[in-house]
Amino acid sequence: MDSIIVEGGRELGGSIPIAGAKNACLTLMPATLLTNEPVTLTNAPRLSDIRTMRTLLESLGVEAASLQDGQVQVLSTREIGNHRADYDIVRKMRASILVLGPMLARDGHAVVSLPGGCAIGARPVDLHLKGLEALGAKLELSEGYVHASAPTGLKGSVFEFPFVSVGATENILMAATLAKGTTVLKNAAREPEIVDLATCLIAMGAHIDGAGTSTITVEGVDRLHGATHPVVTDRIELGTYMLAPAIAGGSVELLGGRLDLVEAFAAKLNETGIEVEETANGLRVSRKNGRVNAVNVITAPHPGFPTDLQAQMMALLCTANGTSVLEERIFENRFMHAPELMRMGARIDVHGGTATVTGVERLKGAPVMATDLRASVSLILAGLGAEGETVVNRVYHLDRGYERVEEKLRACGADIKRVKADG
Ligand code: UD1
Repeated sequence: MDSIIVEGGRELGGSIPIAGAKNACLTLMPATLLTNEPVTLTNAPRLSDIRTMRTLLESLGVEAASLQDGQVQVLSTREIGNHRADYDIVRKMRASILVLGPMLARDGHAVVSLPGGCAIGARPVDLHLKGLEALGAKLELSEGYVHASAPTGLKGSVFEFPFVSVGATENILMAATLAKGTTVLKNAAREPEIVDLATCLIAMGAHIDGAGTSTITVEGVDRLHGATHPVVTDRIELGTYMLAPAIAGGSVELLGGRLDLVEAFAAKLNETGIEVEETANGLRVSRKNGRVNAVNVITAPHPGFPTDLQAQMMALLCTANGTSVLEERIFENRFMHAPELMRMGARIDVHGGTATVTGVERLKGAPVMATDLRASVSLILAGLGAEGETVVNRVYHLDRGYERVEEKLRACGADIKRVKADG
């Protein structure tokens, strides 16, 4: 597997273009199963997770064309030829469960393997299943597969999520667009990716109200049609690169960045003493001299601090002046980056879902191991500010969620390169 080598200590300058959101695209792609007309997604990110989703959709009978070097995806499902999503593909990516709602809504049956994905906690899919049952689906679990059916079609209903789930909200929202009657989703996720999905579904002819709030109302329609939809900016990639100058020093403009997508995160960054300003083309992040302030962080569903930026924020706080406490409230077991950061000299104590980080003057480069997607990039960020060379091994997960990391950082003056496994 490839490694990334970072020589720390270079201040950054210049600009980084932010891609379309992986997580939005991973729900927009299955949404195209809801219609027999082509749907065109523009501003798609070029990532291995997107290719995995395309492979899964193709296995179901979707005709997929990837244009403009992958930035435009045209997906067309004249008919779903195969209603079974196989373990071999699904195990690679948890978001595969998102084909369940659309297939069931369109044709009244689907068989989907239970997913795998990043090893960050148990991550069951029970809410996806309960929500679909509330719409009248009959479900059976056997040999690792969910067998779902709704021979007379799904029926609108009121469903209250016991806690917020992004994926479950997406799955049920998609299914409800073709259900008979009205569906009301309470305690729904409010993430920008939900708003983006609803915007695309509305462009396809769906009747949806309230996306972006905790109550979403859907009036079912008989059919949806084709549309063209630009994928929203990736707020996690944005936040990640906002941390690059914050950690390495310097000033970088994030092209396409929007403050409204990262408000809670940007507010925390401000608290540490990092400057964030809006520009004509995005956001500019600058670090002045001196150490950043320690801050406390609690991850929460949107509009709270995103769990997907917790590892990267920890990389910054490792060299803060004072002690920071990070509480992970979304996923258990999401501190796998902590022992790796400690190999670089960080002082971190993890107890359950809480990590206490006592800032040190500077981290020192070391060989480290990338464990999951966001952990991988947090180690690269830490390496940018560290003294000497950091070798991040096993960067397979990185390519699932970040396109051209080395190129984007190198263009800002970072000393970073990839070493191919075989070279
Ligand atoms: C999505 C994002 C992921 C992000 C997460 C939280 C995608 C492809 N992935 O994941 O990057 O970290 O939101 O912002 O969009 N849960 C259950 N039962 C369920 C569903 C979820 O117990 O049926 C739990 C999960 O284990 C977790 C919590 O609910 O503890 C929130 O998970 P959820 O919001 O569903 O995350 P994902 O949609 O999987």
